[in-house]
Amino acid sequence: MLLSGKARLAGVLGWPVAHSLSPRLHGHWFARYRIDGVYVPLPVRPEDLELAFRALPRLGFLGWNVTIPHKERAFALVDRRDAAAERTGVVNTVLVHPDGTLEGRNTDGAGFLAHLRAEYPDFVPATALVLGAGGAARAVAFALLEAGCAQLRLCNRTSARARALAADLARLFPDRVLVCDWPPPPAALSDLALLVNATSLGMTGQPPLLLDLAPLPAGAIVADLVYVPLATPLLTAARARGLRVLDGLGMLVHQAVPGFAWWGGRVPEVDEELRRCLLEALEAPARTGLSVH
Ligand code: ATR
Repeated sequence: MLLSGKARLAGVLGWPVAHSLSPRLHGHWFARYRIDGVYVPLPVRPEDLELAFRALPRLGFLGWNVTIPHKERAFALVDRRDAAAERTGVVNTVLVHPDGTLEGRNTDGAGFLAHLRAEYPDFVPATALVLGAGGAARAVAFALLEAGCAQLRLCNRTSARARALAADLARLFPDRVLVCDWPPPPAALSDLALLVNATSLGMTGQPPLLLDLAPLPAGAIVADLVYVPLATPLLTAARARGLRVLDGLGMLVHQAVPGFAWWGGRVPEVDEELRRCLLEALEAPARTGLSVH
C-alpha cells in the first residue's frame, strides 16, 4: 500500500460490515494501479448513519459504498441521485462532489448488464424472466428494459410485490411487462433468452430454487445474482442442461466500477486476476452471509 498524507479515501458503510468483499475488491484496484489511496470497512450503526454521511466528506472521503441495512436510508441522505437510484429507491454508491454535495447512485442494474455483455457479447435482449421483486430484482428489471428487452416477465412469491414493481416499470416501459404466477409455469420459460434469479433462494442457509429448466430453449442464459455459493443449485442444473450461465460474482465486480472510477481516478479493469482474488476470499472458511457491497 502506498499511503501518503494525500491518500485518496473511500470505504463501505454497513452494520455489520465484516462480511463485505468490497475492501478486498477496491483494495485490489488501488494496489494494482499503484494509486495512493485506501478503501476501508466502516461499521456504522443505523442510528449513526446520518452523522457518518455528514462527517465523511469533512474527513476528506471522496465517496463510499453502502450495504445492508443502510441502502434505503442512504437514498434520503444524499443531495441528488441518478436515474437508477430514483427508480429503485436504493443508493449503493455515494460520490462526494468538490462542493461537498453528495450524489447517490445505484450501480447494480448497470453492473448486471455490463457482466452480461462482457460474457455474452452476442446477447440480444428478447424475452427475459426475472424471479424476485426486491431491490436487486428492481435494479435488474429496469436495466433490462432500458437495454431494449422486448418482453419482461416478473414472478415473485408475494405476487403483490411483483405487481407493484410491474406497475412502476410499466410507467416507463408500457406494454412490455407481464406478471406470472409463482412458481413460473413451464410456458413462461419456453421462449426465454434470459432467466434471472434475483431472489435469495439458493444462497447458503436458504432453500434452493427448485425450477425445472427443461422447457428453456437451448440458447437461453441462466443468471443467478446469488454468489455464496458461486455454483448455486440453479446454475448447476443449468450447466447440466448445457445452457449458458452467468454467476453472481460478475455483478458484484461490475457494480463497483463507477465508484472506483470516482475515488480511484481511473476506470478499473475487470479481469481474471480480480476474479481470482475474490474467489480466494470467498473460499476462505467461515465466510457466509456476504452481501453485494
Ligand atoms: P434484495 O433487496 O437483495 O433483492 P429483498 O428485498 O429481501 O432483497 O428480496 C428478496 C427476494 O427473495 C424477494 O423477492 C423474496 O420474495 P418475497 O417478496 O415473497 O418475500 C424472495 N424470497 C426470499 N425467500 C424466498 C422463499 N423462501 N421463496 C421464494 N422467494 C423468496
